[in-house]
Amino acid sequence: MRVSSGVPGFDDLVEGGLLKDRLYVVSGPPGSGKTTFCSQFITQGVKEGKECLYVTMHETKEELSEDMSGFEFGFDRAMQSDQLQFLNLVTEAGKRTITQFGTDGGLTNRLVAFIESNGIDHCVIDSTMLLQHFFSDMSDEITGFLSALKQTEATILLISEMTDPTSYSDEHYLAHGVIFFHNFLDSGGMTRGVQVIKMRGTAIDSDIRELSFSDQGLRVHTDRKVQG
Ligand SMILES: Nc1ncnc2c1ncn2[C@@H]1O[C@H](COP(=O)(O)OP(=O)(O)OP(=O)(O)O)[C@@H](O)[C@H]1O
Ligand SMILES: [Mg+2]
Repeated sequence: MRVSSGVPGFDDLVEGGLLKDRLYVVSGPPGSGKTTFCSQFITQGVKEGKECLYVTMHETKEELSEDMSGFEFGFDRAMQSDQLQFLNLVTEAGKRTITQFGTDGGLTNRLVAFIESNGIDHCVIDSTMLLQHFFSDMSDEITGFLSALKQTEATILLISEMTDPTSYSDEHYLAHGVIFFHNFLDSGGMTRGVQVIKMRGTAIDSDIRELSFSDQGLRVHTDRKVQG
């Protein structure tokens, strides 16, 4: 079964949508659209009546709402919905919420327990960068984190910052799918692109396709190929 990304044009690159209950890594340089893409995905989930969870490690709920307030894809309404839970793991309140789930195993077990006991269908984790606050050995624990999340019955987007598109990391190999955002600086301007690097079980369009912002958020121009 496929799940809509909520980003106009994107689903056409992946045979109509993301495969349900799988884990996708979303990577790209600063300001390339990762958070906006994931916010559109969560909003789409809420609109479809799904139970949704947005886990953040560097933005408060207010900051995220503010960042998305220029767009009209309905994020504010989604944020006010009972179907969307927001977990900020940096605040005391967020930490208290997550420590109520599971008794051992740290963040990985607790997040999985939270997802399972709340029946979460769609989940965004923004981002891997601050996982280092929870893990003592990042390269060891990120493997367990991804493996455990892959086994939940939730469709998960995990944002992983990366500035060098040629240097892959463990999460790219472990994920069911990898989506890259690109910023191409040209004479005085910037062209945005999105590229599906892999998606198991799906015949993908792996070319870089042009991405643009409008008042409706991001959209993918499936007919416009961007040269890297
Ligand atoms: N309507 C718009 N037109 C052009 N650019 C926009 C528009 N709205 C937002 N932006 C730019 O898009 C970027 C925000 O994208 P977003 O927050 O989704 O990126 P990100 O990949 O999550 O970045 P980071 O790695 O910093 O978290 C900002 O640089 C913002 O200035
Ligand atoms: Mg972001």
